[in-house]
Amino acid sequence: VPVDPFDLVIFGGTGDLALRKLLPGLLRRYADGQIPESARIIGVARDTQTDAEYREKVEEALTRAIGDDAALGARVPAFLAKLIYRSLDATKDEGWDEFGALLKEYQDHIRVFYLSTSPSLFVDFCTRLRDQGLHEGAARVVLEKPIGKDSASAAAINDAVGAVFAEHQIFRIDHYLGKETVQNLLALRFANILFEPLWNANRIDHVQITVAETVGLEKRAGYYDTSGALRDMVQNHLLQLLCMVAMEPPAAMQADAVRDEKLKVLRSLKPITREEINQVTVRGQYRAGASGGVAVPGYLDELGRNDSRTETYVAIKAEVDNWRWAGVPFYLRTGKRLAERVSEIVVSFRHVPHMIFDESAGPALPNKLVLRLQPDEGVKLWLMIKDPGPGGLRLQHVPLDMSFAEAFGVRQPEAYERLLMDVVRGNPTLFMRRDEVEAAWAWIDPILAAWDELREAPKSYTSGSWGPSAAVALVERSGRTWNEDS
Ligand code: BG6
Repeated sequence: VPVDPFDLVIFGGTGDLALRKLLPGLLRRYADGQIPESARIIGVARDTQTDAEYREKVEEALTRAIGDDAALGARVPAFLAKLIYRSLDATKDEGWDEFGALLKEYQDHIRVFYLSTSPSLFVDFCTRLRDQGLHEGAARVVLEKPIGKDSASAAAINDAVGAVFAEHQIFRIDHYLGKETVQNLLALRFANILFEPLWNANRIDHVQITVAETVGLEKRAGYYDTSGALRDMVQNHLLQLLCMVAMEPPAAMQADAVRDEKLKVLRSLKPITREEINQVTVRGQYRAGASGGVAVPGYLDELGRNDSRTETYVAIKAEVDNWRWAGVPFYLRTGKRLAERVSEIVVSFRHVPHMIFDESAGPALPNKLVLRLQPDEGVKLWLMIKDPGPGGLRLQHVPLDMSFAEAFGVRQPEAYERLLMDVVRGNPTLFMRRDEVEAAWAWIDPILAAWDELREAPKSYTSGSWGPSAAVALVERSGRTWNEDS
């Protein structure tokens, strides 16, 4: 379904996110006929360059992103024609009046301002937009993470942006919410009768959420070293996934109904105290090793410094302290330079209450629901069945396996594609409300403070491994193990 005509301005239009994700995503939506011909995409950055030079740069990035997809490649020239470039500095007056006039050429267009820049510039950009009168009517602003580095700085950003834009105009993006399997989790939970009666502490033993990456620092040293895995991944992506698993059924699939339920989960997260910090959290940092068979340097070498304590891996035992989830651990782990790129949610059910088979049948392993976010999106439900054949009744643990690619034979859209179109449509369901971001920080702050106070170096792990052994101990302490058979 085509969206209404729009002007999309990307502040940070020459940046990595714009070139690798936003513009290729827009190209795909355009090729699918969702973007009207009159729509304009305006890249903004500080460098001086012409529209033609910008288009050339974007073309290179698109060519890399789409590979040998000839049909998509054929749409590139028409897509590039929609691109405009403007050189603007948020801290200088030059060019802003012309920029205002450019946007006012199309009074009926929805205006989307995507802030893909350092958050330190958010306030300046918003003030400029207000001074140009561009913040009113059908205007929306998209905030890319990180939204702050703790509660106080997040509140300051939210205050400053909120002084210009109303909350319904502000779209705080967490691209994990746009991933196909995450939305599928909602479908599985709330469009099937099977799971919901079991979806609680009586039937679920624990939940694991893993976001493992094989990449390292990726030229983002300036940002990443001041952030670390807890701020970069857990505060947003992993906690949002946790919310999707743990929230109560919203009354309807409406933005505030969903976000109210997520907020309740975030507010129910059991605070982690200083006393237990080393029992329930593990920080790691990768050292040299191999990734995909290729030798790779350690974090400190990539950084060019040897005094950084920034964590590139974190594992946490979280708990949602409410009626539904009392006593059910949510194990979260994420890290860079791990053995494989895999993101998954594993819901492990309890054992059957009584075993009727004798020992020769083997153990009845618990049921397990595995939602694979990437790569190879899909859902597996692990069940016990009888081992086929005449040799007596022996049990086997096998998955009912649904690979989305095999089942539907269609490409899974990238998160940003979906989310950008949601912004144009003004649908904030898959975006974070101010109170959610702040509630997530409120849980993260004490962990950061406890780590700061301890001043311990992160545990070293070899690139290409599954992270520090302390993370294995974290789950083994309660007699569990990290999922290995997804
Ligand atoms: C970003 C983080 O939000 O998510 C990156 O800043 C991380 O450090 C990325 O690499 C992972 O996203 P995806 O979609 O590749 O899993």
